[in-house]
Amino acid sequence: MALLPQRFAPEQCEAVAREVLAAHRGQPGALLPILHDIQDRLGAVPPELLPLIAEDLCLSRAEVHGVVSFYHDFRATPPGRQVLKLCQAEACQSMGVKALTAELESKLGLPLGETREDGSLSFEPVYCLGNCACAPSVMLNGELHGRVDAEEVLALLAEQGAQA
Ligand code: FES
Repeated sequence: MALLPQRFAPEQCEAVAREVLAAHRGQPGALLPILHDIQDRLGAVPPELLPLIAEDLCLSRAEVHGVVSFYHDFRATPPGRQVLKLCQAEACQSMGVKALTAELESKLGLPLGETREDGSLSFEPVYCLGNCACAPSVMLNGELHGRVDAEEVLALLAEQGAQA
């Protein structure tokens, strides 16, 4: 998978991490909120920041690395400008998401789980969006859409791309 460059310089990443760590100082169980805040601001949790986070929270680097790698939501590099998540769980499978996945992979020219090299789009699997009654479900740039087919997904992408 092509790795996109970080959107921020290393010094900016470190400054953001220090601000976030200071904002959560003394909070019990702060690791996950800290990682979420860093990702909200940088688009990712750059691996270079893990030693700083570990030191600040008096944790080992291995512990922090273990948490970051356990939760799939945390990214080492930022996603594409548009993020299309296609549900692969049971209800969506029963409504033909396997075929929809293959059709979208071919129409987008992008395999599921990959990001375009130009950074325009990430196409990602997700395992239930809580919208099972309206399967198959997608989430495009944080917005949920149900009972979609390939044409609708392409139209949504074009619409959102035009707004971007
Ligand atoms: S299985 Fe796809 S939304 Fe629940």
